[in-house]
Amino acid sequence: MFPYYRNRRLRTNESIRSLVRETILTPNDFMFPMFITEGTNTQEAIPSMPGIYRRSLDLTVREVQELWKIGVKAVNIYVKVDDKLKDNTGREAWNKDGLMQEAIRAIKGAVPEMIVMPDVALDPYSIYGHDGIIEKGKVVNDPTVDALVKMALSHAEAGADFIAPSDMMDGRVYAIRKALEENNFHDVGIMSYAAKYASGHYGPFRDALDSAPVDAEEIPKDKKTYQMDYCNRTEAIREALHDVEEGADIVMVKPGLSYLDIVREVKNAVHVPVAVFNVSGEYAMVKAAAEKGWIDHDKVMIEQLTCIKRAGADLISTYFAKEAALLLNK
Ligand code: PBG
Repeated sequence: MFPYYRNRRLRTNESIRSLVRETILTPNDFMFPMFITEGTNTQEAIPSMPGIYRRSLDLTVREVQELWKIGVKAVNIYVKVDDKLKDNTGREAWNKDGLMQEAIRAIKGAVPEMIVMPDVALDPYSIYGHDGIIEKGKVVNDPTVDALVKMALSHAEAGADFIAPSDMMDGRVYAIRKALEENNFHDVGIMSYAAKYASGHYGPFRDALDSAPVDAEEIPKDKKTYQMDYCNRTEAIREALHDVEEGADIVMVKPGLSYLDIVREVKNAVHVPVAVFNVSGEYAMVKAAAEKGWIDHDKVMIEQLTCIKRAGADLISTYFAKEAALLLNK
């Protein structure tokens, strides 16, 4: 008999292909990252992220209402902090009337069912653009964790559904979980950026928030003492297992596309949902190549998101969320 196997039988037409399809992408898979800025009726383009804006609260709320209507059920929120409010302690981060806290209240007030996941890390609030407090030229772990706990509690008080620490300090998941329990926020979850790599793919995000590490003497030039070395694999599993033990409800791998091996391994190692961040640089690459007419934007977008899900992602944070949801709903 030749050929012995006829694998093409299951690919004969769209009907059979759809019957045996293993991964189906839906708008429920997405979380949408949003950048928020001061002011009203303000919408600022981010040149390295075509189609993504920094928006004032009023316009953010309008966008969230639209997202809800098309089936996107979670937003990851980030704020652009006025330079005047930045220092080395990050104290603006737990101001109960800060932009982030206002944003959480406004979004939950307008669309109560939308899952709101504010980012917990000091970089937008740091004069040095680092995710932690700097002492003697080093990002110090434990004092930073104390700050992150205050920040997380202020988010919970404002009504956040999930706290999303993206800082990569050690012990912060445990410290945040403990503080949430002690303050009766039993239902506030934690989605930890568990395996977050020191990646060149975050450039456009740092443009959006003006949050890149500053170039100054005594200040670390990069985030490699806390974000992971992309040469490593087992370390990602360890990070994810530790975060689950410390109380994370969801663990995230970040970036996405170049890290799908890590996504699969983490997925196999833990028994909590795994999230993947399809980061700003990945978005920018697709937009740029599509703008040049070198790739078919929509095809590549859907393929990449589906492949992230196939690799093991239960949730995907992606700047494509709105466009992809609109396309999938057609
Ligand atoms: C910072 C943070 C970053 C991103 C999310 N939170 C950037 C960084 O670590 O420098 C990147 C997201 C993206 O590139 O889309 N805590």
